[in-house]
Amino acid sequence: MEERQLKKQRSKNKGKERRAEQKAEAARIKEGQRLVKLAQEVPDPLAKFPSFHKFERSGLSCKLIYRRVADMDEPLLEWAIDLTKRNMQPLYEKSSGGWKENMKREEMTEDAACFLVAIDTATDKPLGFSHFRFDMDYGVEVLYCYELQLEPECRQKGLGRFMLQVLELMAFTNQMSKVVLTVFKHNLGGITFFTKCKYTLDDTSPEDSFDETFDYCIMSKENKVKRSQKTSL
Ligand SMILES: CC(C)(COP(=O)(O)OP(=O)(O)OC[C@H]1O[C@@H](n2cnc3c(N)ncnc32)[C@H](O)[C@@H]1OP(=O)(O)O)[C@@H](O)C(=O)NCCC(=O)NCCS
Repeated sequence: MEERQLKKQRSKNKGKERRAEQKAEAARIKEGQRLVKLAQEVPDPLAKFPSFHKFERSGLSCKLIYRRVADMDEPLLEWAIDLTKRNMQPLYEKSSGGWKENMKREEMTEDAACFLVAIDTATDKPLGFSHFRFDMDYGVEVLYCYELQLEPECRQKGLGRFMLQVLELMAFTNQMSKVVLTVFKHNLGGITFFTKCKYTLDDTSPEDSFDETFDYCIMSKENKVKRSQKTSL
């Protein structure tokens, strides 16, 4: 074959490969969207894990409940918004974006918002919560943890780790590829906590460059079972 014909054949093959890759990527995204939709439709993703409905340790005794935002009692939702403000306002004020209460309220009341709440068994008072969503993130099906917030007196007793484990269980049994979260770089307690819970910097975390710096990073924990299934195919 002449050199010119060879070149033509090579570029034809490359085009074919690119189209096959695009097709495979589109199919992957479609499958991810299907899994997210299925997960969102589960009436109570906590129901499968009865042994994780209670946390009794270090003087804390609480039950965990799951609520979609539409099913949250107003006082409970207002408490969650207020706790987020108490815990996070100083950290947001240190960031470039500042604290925008209305935006936080909007985010926490959007239809897709789901909540895992820890309630004191004796007093019925809420002690901590996570706002999370099953969602697509950069083309990947994930459980996105928007918030994990505990009342100050309930911290460092293992409840945060326990709630994060419950999020992981809900994510991985519903075929999500990872649990993802955003944390301010200056939230040293948060970074230490997530690192101790074996979260690492996610591929999608923005990198500082000479003309841009980011005051947050993205951390994640992968669904190892799902990855091993993918690689063995
Ligand atoms: C971050 C938070 C959820 C952690 O929950 P917690 O119940 O206090 O954490 P745990 O007791 O489960 O701790 C798990 C591990 O992290 C460590 N850890 C937790 N908070 C820490 C902190 N502030 N500084 C250093 N280490 C911390 C614990 O010592 C423990 O380590 P170990 O494995 O060596 O025992 C809780 O402190 C909180 O609500 N903070 C305010 C809100 C916030 O920053 N949320 C995260 C960003 S959304």
